[in-house]
Amino acid sequence: MPTLTSHLRPSWATPSLQAVCAAALMAALAPASWAATAVATPNADGEVIPADEPAAIAAVTNSIKASVQAGFDKNGHAYRDAHRKAHGCVQARFTVLGKLPAKLAQGLFATPRSYDAVVRFSNGSGSSQDDHSPDGRGMAVKVLGVSGPKLLDDEPNASTQDFLMINHPVFFVRNASDYVAFQKNTVSFLLTHLHEAGIIIAIGAHSMTNPLNARYWSMVPYKLGTEQMKYSARPCAGGTFYDQSNSADRLRENLTGQLASGSACFDFMVQTRTAPADMPIEDPTIEWKEASSPFVPVARIDIPAQTPEGAEACEIRSFTPWHSIAEHRPLGGISRVRKTVYQTISTLRHQLNGQPRVEP
Ligand code: HEM
Repeated sequence: MPTLTSHLRPSWATPSLQAVCAAALMAALAPASWAATAVATPNADGEVIPADEPAAIAAVTNSIKASVQAGFDKNGHAYRDAHRKAHGCVQARFTVLGKLPAKLAQGLFATPRSYDAVVRFSNGSGSSQDDHSPDGRGMAVKVLGVSGPKLLDDEPNASTQDFLMINHPVFFVRNASDYVAFQKNTVSFLLTHLHEAGIIIAIGAHSMTNPLNARYWSMVPYKLGTEQMKYSARPCAGGTFYDQSNSADRLRENLTGQLASGSACFDFMVQTRTAPADMPIEDPTIEWKEASSPFVPVARIDIPAQTPEGAEACEIRSFTPWHSIAEHRPLGGISRVRKTVYQTISTLRHQLNGQPRVEP
């Protein structure tokens, strides 16, 4: 996202600010017609897989592979194709709370206990741009030591449960085939998808001076055992935040500045799908309203004072929502795209860089 979105790459046609603003002005008038795409019978979790989805996933994956390969041919290093710039990878503790209601006490949240974890904070862009540029910001949490089989065929014995979030409640593309159209011609896509254009502008409008002082959302839904959920992390009440740096790397510098002498923490919360008609599984551009289903804390993420991991250690980690136990399987078309994309791109960049790709 060189300018406005989490997943616009430098190689893609970037929309002019004028075009996007024009689209956004009309966005308020655009109907949110997510239901129009749901044509088959949903499964028990509300998923509907369109017939054209496998071809769309292949197209998105091939395009991103080509972009990573081109970057490697140019720079001699293969970077993440999105969320390239890390502000830091930090050690954390992920503590599942006790006395949760039965509906929420499922999967990882069934047993109150504490886990080691790693958190990577990032900008959404595929380039390493100035932190003042409009962008989505990522918070990727890797909980370590989680027992049980995992969903990825090539990493079934991994001990990790990942939670990936961005600092906005909704994603800007509904499904795999729209993502192909967005990749092919971004300006034309946004001018004909005003609801999505409005989301891109809203994502880029958040200002952030310290990644520890922001709220993040999963954007897309997941299973919560027998339920479906979205999740979110919010700074614990009463925190104070270091923001002395205003440089192009202020997010890393303020994160590092704070953790040089103090700690930080987040409440990790889940929201269940209480009103399926208003809470689509196959359209992450539609917010599940907190008025219908509030977020409830189920865990706490403590980040003690420390020096964040060196760039190389942070770079070789791989986060994907599919590093998961079955009880938290990602749901919906955008997550089905991400299953193939993250696995393929992480493998490719490690291969090209001659780095080991090892999941704890
Ligand atoms: C079709 C839609 C999407 C595509 C094609 C896509 C693509 C990617 C790619 C290629 C990476 C780098 C992976 C790697 O090299 O290891 C990435 C990272 C990431 N994505 Fe997405 N993404 C999509 C949707 C989303 C959504 C909905 C979220 C919402 C939370 C999200 C959050 C993240 C985060 C936080 C990272 C950084 C992970 C890290 O720190 O390593 N992405 N994405």
